[in-house]
Amino acid sequence: MKTRVDVILGLQWGDEGKGKIVDYLAPRYDIVARFQGGPNAGHTLKFEGKKFVLHTVPSGIFRPGLHNLIGNGVVIDPITLVRELEGLDEAGVRWQERLLVARKAHLILPTHRYLDAASEAAKGKEKIGSTLRGIGPTYMDKTGRNGLRVGDLLSPNFRDRYAQLREKHLQLSKIYPPIEFDLEGEERKWFESLEVLRNMQLVDGAWFVNEALSRGQRILAEGAQGSMLDIDFGTYPFVTSSNTITAGVCTGLGVAPHCIGEVIGIAKAYATRVGGGPFPTELHDAAGERLRREGGEFGATTGRPRRCGWLDLVQLRYTTMLNGVTQLVVTKIDVLNTFAHIRAATHYHIEGQRTQKMPFDLCQTAVEPVWTDFAGWQQSLEQVTQYEDFPAEARAYLAAIEQELGVPITMVSTGPERHRLVLREAVVSR
Ligand code: GDP
Ligand code: IMO
Ligand code: MG
Repeated sequence: MKTRVDVILGLQWGDEGKGKIVDYLAPRYDIVARFQGGPNAGHTLKFEGKKFVLHTVPSGIFRPGLHNLIGNGVVIDPITLVRELEGLDEAGVRWQERLLVARKAHLILPTHRYLDAASEAAKGKEKIGSTLRGIGPTYMDKTGRNGLRVGDLLSPNFRDRYAQLREKHLQLSKIYPPIEFDLEGEERKWFESLEVLRNMQLVDGAWFVNEALSRGQRILAEGAQGSMLDIDFGTYPFVTSSNTITAGVCTGLGVAPHCIGEVIGIAKAYATRVGGGPFPTELHDAAGERLRREGGEFGATTGRPRRCGWLDLVQLRYTTMLNGVTQLVVTKIDVLNTFAHIRAATHYHIEGQRTQKMPFDLCQTAVEPVWTDFAGWQQSLEQVTQYEDFPAEARAYLAAIEQELGVPITMVSTGPERHRLVLREAVVSR
């Protein structure tokens, strides 16, 4: 019988703790596959006293006995990929046998990064707050039908096609004021890194995935970013350039919609956002500072401080709908341990109307959150190993989330380490 692809993805603006949950669940699967995004992602794993941040490599890489696939929907910068692999070498991880790359994944060129940086610099205060990893320009070339793919590396005219695209980028960049960028140095590193990529296990991703499903193998798709950064449904234009929602799994791996199994949506117990763009429940006060401090809310990729705020249930209801979430995972609940009071927005006030609907454009709409207050539990959760052990206040908060979203919470994360996780129900496709 054909098995299905379970999905883990972020329901907010990214950094929900996806990496930790994927790493934890990976041993239950045969394949972990990234389906979109690129090195703009930073997925943090902590175990055995060590910390790793993955950008392009799927978060199942530390687990023996399974494959990790970088799917066709991902954009790959060979330089950051090789740097990541060197880190894995140092940690003694045998990635060579575990890691596969889809030939149809697109390549991030040094000039894509150059264009990203020049475009952001030219925007000034209006900038998106991009991670400057070249994501937008690479996806533009993909949809514009100019891109170079991993499989093209083996083509005899690869160098010519590279030179052509590079030249186009340099012409394009003339619309922006010049910025500092060591193009020659970056190109040297890029071509060196390509040699490593060329010798990796390159596969036809869609065949690989579908044949695995036909053999009854279990697959876990790992999302990057979060649903509010989705190119179609996020807070456009303050979004990333890929489909971060469940639908992206179909195009990013080559699986049919009916092959999607469980959709495990990850939400932090509060909200964060890094970069520009609207954020209705953002806090600009001491509580926001405290969330940042207690939650260590600094970007895993860029080190930027993350903007912090209370949980936004209007936003979560919207992304639960978009993704067809079947299970919820709440992370970082321990960050709220010291708060006497906790808030969550259940509605928005827009032009005098109370609504639970996300407006067309959050950037152009004055939104006033309508709050519900919760009592804090004001105690450590370190001893909690079963759901019933959570203090009554924490259970009330979690129950309210479940009720508002209409989806069961199956896991609650109480710390960054791999095993700081309270399981409630079976989480793998039934
Ligand atoms: P991702 O991009 O969704 O994988 O998340 P990031 O790794 O960017 O950010 C999540 C951060 O929170 C990382 O520093 C994790 O180590 C940390 N983290 C994950 N789960 C928990 C948790 O339950 N409690 C606390 N305190 N930290 C967590
Ligand atoms: P993970 O997978 C949080 C944000 C950037 C910026 C916008 C566009 O770790 O959750 P881009 O570089 O994609 O052009 O940036 O999206 N962003 C993220 N924010 N977590 C991420 O990934 C992000 N990837 C991109 O900060 O606002
Ligand atoms: Mg992250």
